[in-house]
Amino acid sequence: MKALILTGGQGLRLRPFTCETPKPLLPVANVPFLLYQFQLLRRHGVREVLLATAYRPEAFRRAFGDGRKVGLRIRYAFEPSPLGTGGAVRKTAEGIDRTLLVLNGDVLNDLDVGAFLRSHRRRKAAASIALVRVKDPTLYGLVETSPEGRILRFLEKPTWDEVTCNTINAGAYLFEPSAVARIPPGVPYSLERGLFPSLLEAGAPFYGFVIGGYWMDIGTVEKYLQVHLDILGGAVPLERALRRRGRFLLEPGARLAADAAHDGEGRVLIGRGARVAPCVQFSGSVCVGPRCAIARGASLAGCVVLGGSRIGEGARLKDCVVGHRCVVEAGASIGPGRALGDGTVVKRFSQL
Ligand code: GDD
Ligand code: MG
Repeated sequence: MKALILTGGQGLRLRPFTCETPKPLLPVANVPFLLYQFQLLRRHGVREVLLATAYRPEAFRRAFGDGRKVGLRIRYAFEPSPLGTGGAVRKTAEGIDRTLLVLNGDVLNDLDVGAFLRSHRRRKAAASIALVRVKDPTLYGLVETSPEGRILRFLEKPTWDEVTCNTINAGAYLFEPSAVARIPPGVPYSLERGLFPSLLEAGAPFYGFVIGGYWMDIGTVEKYLQVHLDILGGAVPLERALRRRGRFLLEPGARLAADAAHDGEGRVLIGRGARVAPCVQFSGSVCVGPRCAIARGASLAGCVVLGGSRIGEGARLKDCVVGHRCVVEAGASIGPGRALGDGTVVKRFSQL
């Protein structure tokens, strides 16, 4: 089976970070997010991946080329003007005459692809959607099903008075060619607002498959930070060889002063070639990107610092995300919810 990953969104809710880097390529625990999806696909025997790109397509090619180095065969489709989730599937899936797995490019979850496919086949579905239970369905596509799992209603971003259940579209689908053929070619079209209502109207066999376990759409700054805290907190296995020192996980070439201190729960990941000077205090889960330099006496709590940034002496970071190649000068402090775009310079003793 081939998989198609939707990677063409502009990631507007994840700005400033997506101004430079497309959302699926943003580092999550220091590796491009898509690697988690690639890992999942490989684990389930999927070797051929189609990336449906629109925003900054060259960045994907640069990162993965033909896919050999990530153990896959990757082909790229490009929409010069974005075709929406449906239009992207129609264009990218041209010529595919089998069941196709489609994934949103910003969801972290350990989907059991085999079980999903078995459920799809058993029900002779034209289309199946993986569903997950969440507390706030208004942020997603609400999916109402019958006790047998048949989809009765699909409502993208419902208002609270339209919420009738807690199952939402988890961003993974199985489509038969007959479902893809319903998408009009060459024009912008949405799966969520176009194809799914049309399948329901036509009475096509359209089913939900409820999944459990960890699930996260990394699409906002808050969730981008949270996915790091979850991974480093142990909710998702970090399948990489890392050097361990107590609560510290070190990538090759990372240097951590012997007196680095940690309090609270969680772990601290220090990226390739990063340096942490003496007397630095860490608290909770923290991700330090490759080639970062953390100066003496700084304190970092529940935060993410992307590659190449420098954190000055005595600076304090709490519950925030610092972009690539930023400079936070000595004594500055960055507070909860702050997001510094790539290359930001925060002057000495500033308070954000
Ligand atoms: N190629 C291409 N072209 N890809 C696109 C386009 C486009 O025009 N527009 C969006 N995408 C990609 C995005 O890059 C992302 O990977 C995926 O489609 C979903 O877009 P988001 O912008 O992240 O949508 P969302 O998070 O608001 O909602 C979607 O995901 C939820 C689950 O995370 C919907 O599918 C919801 O129904 C769902 O619950
Ligand atoms: Mg999303």
